[in-house]
Amino acid sequence: MKIVSVVGARPNFMKIAPFIRAIHNYNINPNIGFTSPSYPHSLSPSSDKEQITHLLVHTGQHYDDRMSKSFFEELEIPEADINLGVGSGTHAEQVGQTMIEFEKVLKAEKPDWVVIVGDVNAILACSVTAKKEHIKCCHIEAGLRSGDMTMPEEINRLVADRISDLLLTPDLISSENLRKEGVPEEKIKFVGNIMIDTLEANREKAGGFKIIDIISKNLLNYKMATGKTSPQPSRSSTGTGSSNGEIIGSKSEIWNLEFEINDFAVMTLHRPSNVDTKEILEPIVRFITDEVCAERTLIWTIHPRTRKMLETFSLFKNLPDQKNLILLEPLSYLEMLRLNMEARIMLTDSGGLQEECTVLGTPCLTLRWNTERPVTLREHGGASVLVGNNIERIRKEYYAALENPGKPVRPELWDGKTAERCLMAILDFEDESK
Ligand code: UD1
Repeated sequence: MKIVSVVGARPNFMKIAPFIRAIHNYNINPNIGFTSPSYPHSLSPSSDKEQITHLLVHTGQHYDDRMSKSFFEELEIPEADINLGVGSGTHAEQVGQTMIEFEKVLKAEKPDWVVIVGDVNAILACSVTAKKEHIKCCHIEAGLRSGDMTMPEEINRLVADRISDLLLTPDLISSENLRKEGVPEEKIKFVGNIMIDTLEANREKAGGFKIIDIISKNLLNYKMATGKTSPQPSRSSTGTGSSNGEIIGSKSEIWNLEFEINDFAVMTLHRPSNVDTKEILEPIVRFITDEVCAERTLIWTIHPRTRKMLETFSLFKNLPDQKNLILLEPLSYLEMLRLNMEARIMLTDSGGLQEECTVLGTPCLTLRWNTERPVTLREHGGASVLVGNNIERIRKEYYAALENPGKPVRPELWDGKTAERCLMAILDFEDESK
């Protein structure tokens, strides 16, 4: 059997890593790892001992080292066999160019399956191209629905799920969404959340990272203000436990940073709905600088889109000098995981972080009005509260979450074994259609 799996942008990488490992394990021993009692279906491991040939295609949507390469290195993803080199552009440009290039790959390679993960532009482009070439398509993380058609990812999900042959869902709400849309039962398999496989596999390793080292390596304040690379941190602190870390160099040259390791908030923002309009972005910036940073350190990891928009709206220039605000470049997977493990609270518009907060128990304010991941919400036992971009609401829930952080419950089958269930579902599909 030949499988082509596709990645395009940052959130894909942590989802494909465990799937590739599952294929590798299967090729070593087709029955290894396929004995999990948590597999919820009555299907048995494939008796077909045929090796799986796997090719990884990177569409090239994210190309910066920090948005792509660092994830390959840390998560030990083999280098992509083919890079389509699509790069940045409008959505039509990205999708159109991906389809043109991916069609060539499919014609040359003739795989049995195309596997897509998540909701980025690659899944729209590659599912349509695969089906037009009469190749079976499997969507990992199928069935998520925000109901928000202004969200590019929602359109991607709807199209990919409508035409894919096998829909592997991360939770039972997603399975139900697909049933409501009339998807035949045999196409839907509840397998759990594949991203949690990566979290569980890397938790211990991330625990070895020192917060102060992460800051020093990725510090944007200093680079922006001086044009130089980051200063080395003082080794007066271990960067763990309750001690204060102090960054010499940046401290003396730019601003005073008394960093209380045990009490910091983390923020990430990148959705067009939050960052592309000054009327929305400016009050958020004002809330964090005037209120959050008045009480504790806020670590803000800045996505390239957000940085561009902050500069466009002239909101960036005063940020480096802001007391208690640490601006970081986009972090590697392990660095972000480490911050999340220690954060007092997360402010984010990322779906993946909502999920990771739910497993790690970090209270999470989701700066969106809707979510395609309701299992992460407090009312379903998760860690997250939807706060949109209304400052009153953000403020109220910010203080409420600090006061009552809650104890999230891990959703069903977010157990670190989803990748093998994904591969098993593909093998079973093949067996059943013989
Ligand atoms: C994409 C995904 C989104 C995902 C996000 C995570 C879609 C529709 N959106 O959004 O679901 O949550 O990735 O990051 O697929 N840029 C760089 N370097 C890069 C990549 C991008 O500087 O390596 C800049 C470019 O100026 C680009 C902007 O960031 O215009 C936005 O990138 P783009 O790929 O269009 O979408 P994201 O906002 O990253």
